[in-house]
Amino acid sequence: MPKLCVLAGDGIGQEVIPAAVEVLQAVIPDLEVITAEAGWECFMKYGTSLPEESLEAVRICGAGLFGAVSSPSYRVEGYRSTILTLRQELGLYANIRPVRSWPTVSPGNDVDMIIVRENSEGLYSGRERSDGETAIAERVITREASQRIAARALELARNLGRERLTIVHKANVLPLSDGLFRDCVREMVENSAAKNGFAFVVDELLIDVAALKLLAQPELFDMIITTNLFGDILSDAASYWGGGLGMAPSVNWGDAVAIAEPVHGSAPDIAGKGIANPIAAILSAALLARLVWQNKMAAERIESAVFDTLASNIDLSAGTAAITEAILKRL
Ligand code: NAI
Ligand code: MG
Repeated sequence: MPKLCVLAGDGIGQEVIPAAVEVLQAVIPDLEVITAEAGWECFMKYGTSLPEESLEAVRICGAGLFGAVSSPSYRVEGYRSTILTLRQELGLYANIRPVRSWPTVSPGNDVDMIIVRENSEGLYSGRERSDGETAIAERVITREASQRIAARALELARNLGRERLTIVHKANVLPLSDGLFRDCVREMVENSAAKNGFAFVVDELLIDVAALKLLAQPELFDMIITTNLFGDILSDAASYWGGGLGMAPSVNWGDAVAIAEPVHGSAPDIAGKGIANPIAAILSAALLARLVWQNKMAAERIESAVFDTLASNIDLSAGTAAITEAILKRL
């Protein structure tokens, strides 16, 4: 029986995550759901944004659904970014962000790509220091992390029938770090071809050119693999083709635990109004079903219901409850 730990977090996380759980329970009736606290409100209450019990609850379930948390843009003593802590503590080294065209909300029709973002190091290694005059952030690239993200991408490509992998990097300026990343991915692809006979077209693009191509010819991409910050930025930009942040799902995926989350944040500007689009959260739940629980049927039912709801020309300003209702009806 699959188990899910729900961390709704702050702001619209508390509105869109219950909607996603309702949809998930409708297609996986024996799903066991527990809830845990995390985020800024949790920090204000307990002095920690991620209590040890919450972390343990996700570990026990092996799967989590995370909303979003609000983070102050200034330094607050004792506060650590919840999602970064979750990624580090639980070894969630892969961030999988699919982007595809959806009826009525997408600006183009032929987009269908998966961005695989290295989620554990790069510029988010947490090694930042300053003496007030010079501030330094270390951008760490290791063979181990580059190989394991490549392995995850290849496994995904095989399971999902993807045929082309584009490595996005900046090895012309960063030959040691991004060169290592690029070479590791290429080696892994070659090894996989030799071992499994899995032929795969690999190409590479510099991050700046990739950004332009993503705007001009998004249909050219099948799978992208890249380092942490590049993946963060590229995937937010790519979400435009899927209909914007309210439509963009993701999953943070390690070896033992996975946490799905909508790409968007806590949206304080619309929180509490019941108008947030729950589809990003609902599609994130579908990703858990497809990739982590390997319940393809549940994932397809959710994604088809979202497709049909959008195709019916639903007014996305109808509100969280009305959109959720429309999707539940079409499951
Ligand atoms: P945001 O994603 O929360 O909002 C950006 C814009 O998109 C806002 O105008 C918002 O109303 C709109 N939007 C986002 N999701 C939507 C949805 N489902 N339906 C309709 N409209 C939606 O990003 P922002 O404003 O930069 O950050 C707000 C807070 O969220 C900050 O405290 C930030 O630190 C946090 N954040 C947390 C993340 C996480 O927990 N993974 C990720 C990004 C931001
Ligand atoms: Mg982001």
